[in-house]
Amino acid sequence: DVMARFQAEMVKGLGRDTNPTATVKMLPSFVRSLPDGSEKGEFLAVDLGGSQFRAHQVKVFDDGRQSSQLESKSYPTPKEVTQGNGAELFDYIADCLSDFMETRNLKNKKLPLGFTFSFPCRQTKLEEGVLLAWTKHFRVRGVQDTDVVSSLRRALQKHQAIYPIPTGTGTNACYMEEMRHISLVEGDEGRMCINTEWGAFGDDGALDDLRTEFDRELDLGSLNPGKQLFEKMISSLYLGELVRLILLKMTKEGLLFNGKVSTALLTKGKIEMKHVSAMEKYKEGLSNTKEILTGLNLFPSEEDCVAVQHVCTIVSFRSANLCAAALAAILTRLRENKKLLRMRTTVGIDGGLYKTHPKFAKRLHKAVRRLVPTCDVRFLLSAGGSGRGARRRLDAALAPFLLPPGTLREVRDKMRAELEYGLKREAQGKATVKMLPTYVCGTPDGTEKGKFLALDLGGTNFRVLLVKIKSGRRRSVQMYNKIFAIPLEIMQGTGEELFDHIVQCIAEFLEYMGIKGARLPLGFTFSFPCRQASIDKGTLVGWTKGFKATDCEGEDVVDMLREAIRRRNEFDLDIVAVVNDTVGTMMTCGYEDPNCEIGLIAGTGSNVCYMEDMKNIEIVEGNEGKMCINTEWGAFGDNGCIDYIRTKYDREVDEGSLNPGKQRYEKMTSGMYLGEIVRQILIDLTKQGLLFRGHISESLRKRGIFETKFLSQIESDRLALLQVRRILQQLGLDSTCDDSIIVKEVCGVVSTRAARLCGAGLAAVVEKKRENRGVERLQITVGVDGTLYKLHPHFSTVLRETVKELAPQCDVTFMLSEDGSGKGAALITAVAKRLHNVGQK
Ligand code: BG6
Ligand code: GLC
Repeated sequence: DVMARFQAEMVKGLGRDTNPTATVKMLPSFVRSLPDGSEKGEFLAVDLGGSQFRAHQVKVFDDGRQSSQLESKSYPTPKEVTQGNGAELFDYIADCLSDFMETRNLKNKKLPLGFTFSFPCRQTKLEEGVLLAWTKHFRVRGVQDTDVVSSLRRALQKHQAIYPIPTGTGTNACYMEEMRHISLVEGDEGRMCINTEWGAFGDDGALDDLRTEFDRELDLGSLNPGKQLFEKMISSLYLGELVRLILLKMTKEGLLFNGKVSTALLTKGKIEMKHVSAMEKYKEGLSNTKEILTGLNLFPSEEDCVAVQHVCTIVSFRSANLCAAALAAILTRLRENKKLLRMRTTVGIDGGLYKTHPKFAKRLHKAVRRLVPTCDVRFLLSAGGSGRGARRRLDAALAPFLLPPGTLREVRDKMRAELEYGLKREAQGKATVKMLPTYVCGTPDGTEKGKFLALDLGGTNFRVLLVKIKSGRRRSVQMYNKIFAIPLEIMQGTGEELFDHIVQCIAEFLEYMGIKGARLPLGFTFSFPCRQASIDKGTLVGWTKGFKATDCEGEDVVDMLREAIRRRNEFDLDIVAVVNDTVGTMMTCGYEDPNCEIGLIAGTGSNVCYMEDMKNIEIVEGNEGKMCINTEWGAFGDNGCIDYIRTKYDREVDEGSLNPGKQRYEKMTSGMYLGEIVRQILIDLTKQGLLFRGHISESLRKRGIFETKFLSQIESDRLALLQVRRILQQLGLDSTCDDSIIVKEVCGVVSTRAARLCGAGLAAVVEKKRENRGVERLQITVGVDGTLYKLHPHFSTVLRETVKELAPQCDVTFMLSEDGSGKGAALITAVAKRLHNVGQK
């Protein structure tokens, strides 16, 4: 109900005609975008409005890691300052700043200054703010209705100023609103940050039915009666006072302390937020309560202490819930603005209550998630604050995974450059993104037919398939397949053993299908980089993923398969085509949708193929038509070009892999490695004492425990925390509730980065296709397969959103390949066979 009321308030505040009478002012901030990581330089900032006045020196580096240094000093804000006159206030600020600059040796520097002024201001531009009213414990004469920036400027003799962000003892929120909804500011394009000033919610009576006698009493005794009524139910400045008023009444009614009131209990402000926090602590709470009450000259019994704790809980719980309700309203608005059914977003949050109260943050998170199940919200403690150590260290560990849009665009552009380079003649043997010609020159046209065998090696499952294709009016594809295991010792044994094993599986399959005698044409999906000289020749460039059989690299895998068949001497097969899984996937989807000219795998490995114009492929003769190129983009970055976004965890995963230094992009984007990254982070957090009670269990040391399916389950929104704990337990990890929250967050950060990086790569591919075709807008279908794409609850959504964002001129349809790449391999085989029969190459 509160959420709905707040939603209505927001609409009112945004409307030109309704704004003058709206209590929630929805002030435009003239901040039009969020930082994108390309910011750099040295700045000063002052921060007025919280419990202390602070001066900061901030250095921001554009080294791609969004690193920054912050040096701060706090100054008290005594009553003479907060309740004196304007000139004194600004002089005081100037004095403090000058002291700060002296201590930091900045006296002779002229640095730009940002002014965080945590009070409601009407802005018409970035460097101006007219104070609408003082809130919280401030009431300085002669400042209301004046521009605080020019006052400060006067006091400081010309420093440039930025804008007020709210933080601190009060409560407030800002968010990015669509310009078209902000009728108070000209222009419809883009977005602008709106400072809601939600603390004033209820000032028109909208919450009167929810306010208690204690709220009314508190308000009457405050500096600004009738104002900031929502804030007075939530923020740290008032919580202690609310508790005091309740305790006082209970005591007077004889419900506490034997009915004996003390002078301290009668004194305004004697119970503060820090006391409430201390009383609500998990373990020491009860003894803290006793100590605090005794300090107020009360004589509490054990029962009194428990009751007082209960009062504290109720007051702070209400605070968290109300705050959550308004936040939920904003989140819903954001989601609707973006026309999304589900939205992932981060809320930057700061303030003493959130940071120091033992339970507030958790209650807030929980309530928000309950109110808006359609938003996946991450709460990020503002790093400038002096947050609870644990949260800060967790954020520090995860920060390098949060790639700003600017960095993603760089990744897209670098990928694009590598795609171009790989097609050049001079790049042969040198390019990291190899751009391998596949000799597949068209997508299916429906005339394919016949009976084929197919092998599908390199994904989660090894399959042998029989595929029957009918063309014409009875056009259809029938498939029979069997999955076979490939034991680890075979994947990493000798090449002969591997291919003998494959042939053994084929034999079993033929037997099982009762077609041992038939000499069927075979298409071989082999999901590793192969340099091809024709459709049925493929030299393995190097193993990737979990394979490392000896004596295969540099050899023709079709020959190896033929030899193994010969060695067995039991049946004969006509191996017609060797096909990468991306190509098979593109073909499978292309059979349904002729516009499918890209194949994407987001599974154990990560790779893309697409139809390229022959004239751009320098190493293949001929300029007519198109040929499918297997990009092998997994190797993107092997020359170090994206090392700056790799984290220490990525490096650890790489070092522990079968192919160190290779497939760096794949190792950040595909299922086989995501779990490993998660595991490395968890190990690190455990070492820091932030998880699993600081104990690294045997299970956590085991490589590969977090398979894609587990990550997907852990991240599923439908799963309650208890179920997450159960999954972790299955994996041998004994977790507390807090642990499971952190594990889920870690998984989320890692998989989101994977999806966004993959999206950046795909954006480069579709953009290239668009330019090839020379069109303003490109409509194209991408055939997709892979367990990460299929099973993970968010990967596909984030991937799609990223592509949309980074390739805005392309309308990309994603088509899930339901039938695997075997069908595509069979279609390719059919065409190759037909062309072969008519003597064409
Ligand atoms: C399968 C395809 O559906 O997906 C394989 O048939 C492909 O060819 C695989 O390699 C990729 O996904 P994963 O997750 O099994 O590696
Ligand atoms: C690896 C392989 C590539 C394959 C991909 C998806 O990147 O090198 O050939 O397409 O995994 O399975």
